[in-house]
Amino acid sequence: MTVYEKIERSASGKVILCGEHSVVYGRPAIAVPISDLRTRCWVEPAVPGSGLRLVATDLQKAVSLRAAPESHTLGKTARLVLEKLQAPEPDAVLTVASEVPIASGMGSGAAVAVAIARALSAYLGSELPSDVVNDIAFEVEKIHHGNPSGIDNTVISWEQPVYFVRGHEPEMIDIRSSFHLIIANSGIAGSTREAIDEVRRRWTAMPGYYEMVFNCIGTIANAARAAVEQGAIQGLGTLLNQNHELLVTMGISISQLDQMVAAARKAGALGAKLTGAGQGGNMIALVEEPRIAAVTQALRDAGAVKLWVTTVRGGDV
Ligand code: MEV
Repeated sequence: MTVYEKIERSASGKVILCGEHSVVYGRPAIAVPISDLRTRCWVEPAVPGSGLRLVATDLQKAVSLRAAPESHTLGKTARLVLEKLQAPEPDAVLTVASEVPIASGMGSGAAVAVAIARALSAYLGSELPSDVVNDIAFEVEKIHHGNPSGIDNTVISWEQPVYFVRGHEPEMIDIRSSFHLIIANSGIAGSTREAIDEVRRRWTAMPGYYEMVFNCIGTIANAARAAVEQGAIQGLGTLLNQNHELLVTMGISISQLDQMVAAARKAGALGAKLTGAGQGGNMIALVEEPRIAAVTQALRDAGAVKLWVTTVRGGDV
């Protein structure tokens, strides 16, 4: 008889450095994991016959797998794991708790799916490898976002900086020199699904214009890859600025994000842009160590409701 024991796994958040939205249309994008912000999932045995219970502590919601509808993202993840392992539903409680803020472009949905896939498969005695975890998380992303590119689940499944082109094998990037990012939340929830739909509407109305914008962003993402691989952090800052301006022309930014971006640049950031789907959510500022305090303060003054300072580690550490 198998004896089940409590198992816990976690997954990181992420930010997109360059290329959000245009990545949905086949252009390259770069994303990095934010390993300091994590979603945890733990699975523990429950009384025989109880089935699998899914608990989302942050949302204060619980449901049994049997009662969870097809569209329930926790339920969908658990079912895909059981299907992959050809395992029967265990009598267990699966709990998720997340530090990754929701509706803010930090990959919270993908982080939950990855943490569940890892924890549940490990609990069942056969932890799934990253490529299978990634496939499961992508299926769940489709419920969240409709037409995702797959970048969020990819960067979070491998928890490594990634150069991503839809439909191609992701390429892991070697970052030459570490750099600091300040991530700031606008306090306004941004729906990735709505933002993707909005860009689709605009692209359908003016395909030639949007194709040109996407091409420019693709060129920026390629240059940004070269910059991080060469440790050209100043150059990366300029590219982030250029990417933000193009996202503004796409109608994806909002005034709160623009104000925060402007404030960060004025306080000495090397570059700043919105990150993720936009229409709310977060922005990032690329900052050299001595300017971190000043830029953080400037972002607070510009209305940031939450801030995280993180270091993207390179080969220099
Ligand atoms: C969301 O983090 C990034 C978008 O490009 C959507 C996607 O790539 O699936 C807006």
